[in-house]
Amino acid sequence: MTAINNPAQKLSDLGVSQPEQIAHLFAEVRARFDSESAGAHDVASWKQFRDAWLGRKSGVLTLVTDNWLKPSPAELKRVVGQELNQLRAHVESQIESRRAVIEAGADEASLSRERVDLSLPGVVRPIGSHHLIRQVFQQIEDIFVSIGFSVVEGPEIETPYYNFEALNIPEFHPVRDDMDTFYLDLPKSAPNPLLLRTHTSPMQIRTMERRQPPVRVIVPGKVYRRDNPDATHSFVFHQVEGLAVDTDITFCDFTGTIEYFVKQFFGAGVKARFRPSYFPFTEPSVEFDVTCVFCGGSGTSAGGGTCSKCKGAGWIELFGAGMVDPAVYGFVNYDPKKVSGFAFGMGIDRLAMLKYGIDDIQVFFQNDARFLRQFP
Ligand code: FA5
Repeated sequence: MTAINNPAQKLSDLGVSQPEQIAHLFAEVRARFDSESAGAHDVASWKQFRDAWLGRKSGVLTLVTDNWLKPSPAELKRVVGQELNQLRAHVESQIESRRAVIEAGADEASLSRERVDLSLPGVVRPIGSHHLIRQVFQQIEDIFVSIGFSVVEGPEIETPYYNFEALNIPEFHPVRDDMDTFYLDLPKSAPNPLLLRTHTSPMQIRTMERRQPPVRVIVPGKVYRRDNPDATHSFVFHQVEGLAVDTDITFCDFTGTIEYFVKQFFGAGVKARFRPSYFPFTEPSVEFDVTCVFCGGSGTSAGGGTCSKCKGAGWIELFGAGMVDPAVYGFVNYDPKKVSGFAFGMGIDRLAMLKYGIDDIQVFFQNDARFLRQFP
């Protein structure tokens, strides 16, 4: 006789009629329980195991109670009852201790999953740096601040009044041909046309409107022009405007300031020259050039042809400048008989190209990390 899977049958059907047979019958059930308990190794299989043995409707202990104990004749009932109690105590205590073992294991596993390993290397986040143009702005600001200039900034969207008229460039003046460029689409009702500033010079006017002499400012910023892109031209580029106005500023102060700046910025080796030029808002006006670093000022490239950077001139134009035209003072209510001053407008991209030997202005705007990484 085997009791495995047989609590569904009554004792009489199993041929059990003597009290001595009962202990053997229960021993088989207990052995089956012990072997099945090894399979309960995680929470899910433990629950299945528990329900198979203790389930109220069809668990093994319920079947033993219903099929063996309840219908057993009086002479067997006491023995069956005792054996059943022992079996129940064994089943319940084993299931409970199995649960404790599984829960401890699960805790251990989740602890080791969550444990922070402080010896692991940290997350390395790439650290950015200032764009080379921003670095050059900073160098220029440092030089001018050290000789008494302060830094101001102005709007990139300007009115024609500040960009042209107050700088002594009336409508239909030929100078506007180079600069009449990016106008904004505005509703017809807008009081003034607006344009992207073509130079930082409007800040000369805005500054003098707000301050009385002495004025010493530089204005770093972005400007926009309808220039076709090539190695030295871009339609958006950067300038630093300079303006110094006081009661006794001479042309010598002007050249001395510019030469001091060039020596500080490039070092003593670079040759520089002033060339007569024309701007409606300065008189006299000059262009300031330095020797071309790409061809050493020879105008000839290493391969023998014309240097493409200075186009054979041996010089590269850095900026325009001059003594402030007295007509400009009229727009800001300064007395031209009492004040004098100078102004300049440097192309920052070209200064950076010369200083760092960069042969194409376009790399400043392409954001190629291989280029940017060279100037940490
Ligand atoms: C002006 O913009 C005047 N406002 C400068 C000035 C200020 C004169 C104060 C007198 C008094 P210009 O158009 O020459 O001048 O431009 C100044 C500098 O900007 C040039 O020397 C050059 O270095 C740079 N530049 C001009 N156009 C471009 C361009 N398309 N791309 C890059 N740099 C440019």
